[in-house]
Amino acid sequence: MRQIRYKLAFASFSIITFLLVGCSSKIMKSPISYSKENTLETKVDSVMKLMTLEEKVGQLNQYNGFWEITGPTPKEGQAAKKYEDLKKGLVGSMLNVKGVKDVRALQKIAVEQTRLGIPLIFGFDVIHGYKTISPIPLAEAASWDLEAIKKSAEIAAEEASSVGLNWTFAPMIDISRDARWGRVMEGAGEDTYLGSKIAVARIQGFQGDLKSNKNILACAKHFAGYAFAEAGRDYNTVDVSESTLQNTIFPPFKAAVDAGVKTFMNSFNELNGIPATGNSYLQRQVLKGDWKFDGFVVSDWGSINEMIPHGYAKDSKQAAEIALNAGSDMDMESSAYVDHLVALVKEGKVKESLIDDAAKRILKVKFELGLFDDPYRYCDETREKETIGSPAIQEGVLDMARKSIVLLKNENELLPLKKSGQKIALIGALANDKTSPLGSWRIAADDNTAVSVLEGLQAYKGNQLSFAKGADVAVGRTQFIWETKINMTDKTGFEEAIAVAKNADVVIMVLGEHGLQSGEGRSRADIGLPGVQQELLEEIYKVNSNIVLVLNNGRPLAIPWAAKNIPAIVEAWQLGTQSGNAIAQVLYGDYNPSGKLPMTFPRNIGQVPLYYNAKSTGRPIMNEPDSVFWTHYIDEKNTPLYPFGFGLSYAKFEYSDLKLSSNTFAKDGKIEVSINVKNSGKVAGKEVVQLYIRDLIGSITRPVKELKGFEMIELKPNETKKVVFSIDEKTIQYFTANSRWEAEAGDFKVFIGGNSEKTMEADFQFIN
Ligand code: BGC
Repeated sequence: MRQIRYKLAFASFSIITFLLVGCSSKIMKSPISYSKENTLETKVDSVMKLMTLEEKVGQLNQYNGFWEITGPTPKEGQAAKKYEDLKKGLVGSMLNVKGVKDVRALQKIAVEQTRLGIPLIFGFDVIHGYKTISPIPLAEAASWDLEAIKKSAEIAAEEASSVGLNWTFAPMIDISRDARWGRVMEGAGEDTYLGSKIAVARIQGFQGDLKSNKNILACAKHFAGYAFAEAGRDYNTVDVSESTLQNTIFPPFKAAVDAGVKTFMNSFNELNGIPATGNSYLQRQVLKGDWKFDGFVVSDWGSINEMIPHGYAKDSKQAAEIALNAGSDMDMESSAYVDHLVALVKEGKVKESLIDDAAKRILKVKFELGLFDDPYRYCDETREKETIGSPAIQEGVLDMARKSIVLLKNENELLPLKKSGQKIALIGALANDKTSPLGSWRIAADDNTAVSVLEGLQAYKGNQLSFAKGADVAVGRTQFIWETKINMTDKTGFEEAIAVAKNADVVIMVLGEHGLQSGEGRSRADIGLPGVQQELLEEIYKVNSNIVLVLNNGRPLAIPWAAKNIPAIVEAWQLGTQSGNAIAQVLYGDYNPSGKLPMTFPRNIGQVPLYYNAKSTGRPIMNEPDSVFWTHYIDEKNTPLYPFGFGLSYAKFEYSDLKLSSNTFAKDGKIEVSINVKNSGKVAGKEVVQLYIRDLIGSITRPVKELKGFEMIELKPNETKKVVFSIDEKTIQYFTANSRWEAEAGDFKVFIGGNSEKTMEADFQFIN
């Protein structure tokens, strides 16, 4: 029986290769040579013509890797069903398959054993690297270095594609303002302008032009509103205004479409009471309609069936009907499409034309990936071996890691460290942790593969280095968060750490979050230093206050005591495989830090969500500072601990001479704004010069400041550079009360500085 099916498949595959007129000889020799006249559409149509309804629905089905692929075939349960579906041509894509051997084995089934031999797409969460891990995306965003971020995505694509993958579920481009939400680590922070630029850089890095098999499909996710989960609790209800949706949440997604992203992922949350997966306003009207997105939309994991507990669908069949009609093209791991869509078409509940549209979108992308030319074009064991963790990839992630570090405080120039003659105490379990810096999105990375801070510092031999753990951050098996417990009680290591600190010239404390404390499903209600670390910090401070605090974390932390008392603070996030080397190079001044915070650091969890581009309100702070009746807390300041855009350098930058080419401009005109930046420090350094505006009166109230441009400059000691920005109609446009993007006439302020708080300012007017 199997033999016959195989033969049939082979016969039909000959037909398809014959008809496709675009297939090279790798699969089999086609009698017809490649014809350039065939457009993507005609190629897709030629396949569509051969397909049954069942096979079209099959293209919309994505399964998670489900059995020991090169072992015996599964005989029962879900795995057996998936295996059977695969052989029947009822699977369009797989996710979480690791390595060329497994990818090839599955692709072989799709190509050789199904009736039409349509190849699969292989997706994976390459969030910040595949096996060699780069900094978490929030950290990369802190670099404000678009070229470096693009390069980092390119490197990740190179490694991932070498193991047979051709699709990453990244970048996450949700603008996130709530530090409690665990997934802030996966995005570019709180600002729409910066987030849009980074979205484009990452998409370009992953995808290139897709001609090379070193590039992979990108996926703009999660569409839309996911980061606005109430109370920062993952998967929670979202309730946002039209203005926030249009002005804050949508722009990075629109930028992603304009940059040619091939796929979108919808989100788990509801929007206006309708789950995003079943939301045709989002997927059909905005994305595929207004924005003309011509790739395909994949559901989030199981999100089609999640419409049942949402209270929006009564069962999986109705969920499939709603999702498909609303424009979700591919079903990730719900089985709802493959189980029900054929019947739904027959019952007239889903139009076949909509199935056709979804299948065509997916086939088109398969053609663009070159899979019909060669389904194994990502499967090369030699390349896999040579690429994984290659020196060039390691150098690339190290470069990105250095650029992601933010210097938050440096009193009395405690940093950089002297290279000799110093007794250095290194304290904190995270300093000797080779797994935590890899973060939680490290599906393919091996434990214990990051360079620890201890190892990084050991490479500098001039000083005497002593290490004491002080206290564990997490206890238990730390592979999975549910098996990990934060150490709330064990202080037995304090004594040793105190003794080591007493005897040192400088104490370096590496404290913060365990790598599994941020990421999906890892919201926190308390964003201080976890466990007993705050106490450890205070105990060490009592015996030696000459402390450099190195933070490891996947979100902004509320650390008011440290900010007040500790002389030097370095934000080192989770920096990936080369973490310890990058940190050591910054601490020793071999790399001068230039990162700037992409998210506000609050003083207190009670202030969250706290973001720089907030509204003034009717009772802003300056009106009646001595009264109760203005917007404030009675027990905490309104201001952040560290504002958006903040970050120091070992150089010193002075801003002067803010000048406008004119104070007014009209339609089609522009103003040039210039400023001089001088390095008055002793070493060369890089500074991110930031441009903000404020629209004083709007048809919808406007934020007190909005980032509208930035430029990274490098200055030698005593050097001055003039930085010029241009302001035109596009700069001041927003989604107004007229429900369209436009510039409104009126008065504006422009601000330039090295962070969102400390700026020089001037006024200008736009005349319509
Ligand atoms: C996440 C997505 C991810 C998907 C596949 C979901 O739980 O929300 O971001 O791409 O799983 O792993």
